[in-house]
Amino acid sequence: MKAVILAGGSGTRLRPFTKIINKHLLPVGSYPMIYWPIKKLAQAGIQEILIVTNKEDIDLFNGIFGSGDELGVQLFYTIQKEKGSGIANALYCAKDFVSEKFVVLLGDNLFDDDLEPYIEDFKKANYGAKVLLKEVGNPERYGVAIVDDKNQRIKSIIEKPKNPESNFCVTGIYFYDNSVFDLIESLSPSERGELEITDLNNLYINRNELNYDILSGWWLDAGTHEALYNANKHFFEGE
Ligand code: DAU
Repeated sequence: MKAVILAGGSGTRLRPFTKIINKHLLPVGSYPMIYWPIKKLAQAGIQEILIVTNKEDIDLFNGIFGSGDELGVQLFYTIQKEKGSGIANALYCAKDFVSEKFVVLLGDNLFDDDLEPYIEDFKKANYGAKVLLKEVGNPERYGVAIVDDKNQRIKSIIEKPKNPESNFCVTGIYFYDNSVFDLIESLSPSERGELEITDLNNLYINRNELNYDILSGWWLDAGTHEALYNANKHFFEGE
């Protein structure tokens, strides 16, 4: 199975650093942030990884990680032409890279769980997509899943709700079949002008094709100053 890591966007919550450097290259532990999701994929046996990022940043990623040899993977790079036009827009840039089921990670998501069991499960699955959830204390910051746990299904996902109906955040770890690109083509930009990953996942829900699991270990979206501090604490101190 191939994987895609999304590492574009503007990183506005990490300004002023992100005025001059891509968020995913900021230090977490002794490495750039994106090293950790790459390592997770490598540990799960994924060998081919596409990194989607901004035009002005692509040489920096290439300069640090190159072909991926040192990490034991093959790395490929592509540009998201319309910078910041949404996670689903960035994902669409992988259309020519994948031809079957694949894994998608948001490059600012850091976690302890081993991906291999989820990947193996998805390989055999007869549904089209899977998301991984995590119970959090601040769900209003994320896509929030309303779960029907009796039937092991997600009823809907709401992006950054003011009054969240659950504490289950949809993490930036996604599994899709190849029909995802047709679905992205049918999306319209949200009020903030982005093609939203939550709208995409809701299309899978409407087709009764979205499965989920709940992460058991530590997980963090390192996209704010406080979260970046906590990420560093985790990797330096082994919380
Ligand atoms: O971390 C999980 C959350 O990530 C989910 O719960 C939300 O549903 C999802 O929308 C997302 O929320 P964020 O507000 O954290 O998204 P952010 O804009 O920070 O982008 C997340 C990643 O996607 C980031 O690593 C960069 C990448 N990205 C983002 C945009 C907007 C791109 O590659 N291109 C883009 O245009």
